[in-house]
Amino acid sequence: MAERWTPDSWRSKPIVQVPDYPDPPALAAVEKQLASFPPLVFAGEARQLKKTLARVAAGEAFLLQGGDCAESFAEHGANNIRDFFRVFLQMAVVLTYAAASPVVKVGRIAGQFAKPRSAPTEKRDGMELPSYRGDIINDNDFTPQARQPDPRRQLQAYRQSAATLNLLRAFAQGGYANLGSVHQWMLGFVKDSPQSRRYMELADRISEALGFMRACGLNLENHPELRATELYTSHEALLLGFEESMTRIDSTSGDWYCTSGHMLWIGDRTRQPDHAHIEFCRGVENPIGLKCGPSLKPDELLRLIDTLDPENEPGRLTLICRFGADKVGEMLPPLVRAVKREERNVVWSCDPMHGNTISAASGYKTRPFDRILQEVKTFFTVHAGEGTTAGGVHLEMTGQNVTECTGGARAITDEDLDSRYHTFCDPRLNADQSIEMAFLLAELLKKDRVTRAAPLSAVASL
Ligand code: TRP
Ligand code: MN
Repeated sequence: MAERWTPDSWRSKPIVQVPDYPDPPALAAVEKQLASFPPLVFAGEARQLKKTLARVAAGEAFLLQGGDCAESFAEHGANNIRDFFRVFLQMAVVLTYAAASPVVKVGRIAGQFAKPRSAPTEKRDGMELPSYRGDIINDNDFTPQARQPDPRRQLQAYRQSAATLNLLRAFAQGGYANLGSVHQWMLGFVKDSPQSRRYMELADRISEALGFMRACGLNLENHPELRATELYTSHEALLLGFEESMTRIDSTSGDWYCTSGHMLWIGDRTRQPDHAHIEFCRGVENPIGLKCGPSLKPDELLRLIDTLDPENEPGRLTLICRFGADKVGEMLPPLVRAVKREERNVVWSCDPMHGNTISAASGYKTRPFDRILQEVKTFFTVHAGEGTTAGGVHLEMTGQNVTECTGGARAITDEDLDSRYHTFCDPRLNADQSIEMAFLLAELLKKDRVTRAAPLSAVASL
């Protein structure tokens, strides 16, 4: 029998990756204040996401999850949010059209502020300071004052998340996402970009299809599904005091939901089965992601699934695999087999970013596009071989024209990294590379769905 869960039951468990707040009463005061603030998302929306993720688990839709490695206070502006939303829409429309698959859109946004670190401190020129843990905790500047965790930053993160979410909702529902605007999303896109022509061709075909439907007498204005979209939010549930403060009972169902975002995930560094992060996440009803890295053994995964999803509820659990292009082919199959053998209903998603980080000769941390792509391809191959579903991807990306990952059709080299390397944390796909990734994914997905649909159509033709 599982022990009783409460929003604060994680506090009696061992925990890693926690900041050392110098003033605990100040922290407690902030948490109390946060607990009185309105929720950022509604429980009903999280339930809706769970339903659509259940369709992903069944192979009827594809999960597109992406956004910044870490959001920042300094870059909180309308243009940034719009540029992300725009490239995300473009990717979604490429996948929806080219692979003829519904796409579940989940942003790594409106709450993605806290970062796990490999070391608690950082040394520079003989000075040792606490590591930067994301803007919700401390500041990236290398001074003792900046690196001191400050609880008031949680209030700022809350307010930034609310403002970001407000704009995203307006974009998604207020007309910006109208399929009739598929050409406009192109504006602001790098001219003469290798992806732009390809995208324009696809946009033309969509416009044609809409024109055809209109000519057949369909009044497109009467169809909200063409005019609007849903964008869900997600972030790593790392800073548990903050997450606890945002956890509320939903009056409709009587269940606990964490209302800081629709979906929460547990990082590869904080998934110890008896630790605090697993304890917190097991008790909230949101869809949960679990990052699966090379050290995860099949029996440990099954134990985590038992804890996080005891009812085997479709859409509850997304396993986000991040092995690295050279390891995924060997490490993924044993996990997939174990989960399949136990008949656990999960979404399999591929994070091709985190296992493929290298140091360039220039000293920058980068990720070669071809390795990212290789991990995605192998992920699809493994699932095809095991008879399971490659359900989605999880990308670190931006709508900006940065130079952080090498390669892609525009061939960013090691030497180019210096020109626009803006990330606060890990290297992200830029707008061009993101669209390129979407086209490549669409091809993989199309092939995959055709193969799996084959037995069905065979039955239908009998
Ligand atoms: N509502 C559908 C969806 O979200 C179709 C749609 C409308 C759409 N606007 C979109 C799809 C923008 C992708 C991008 O899937
Ligand atoms: Mn990252």
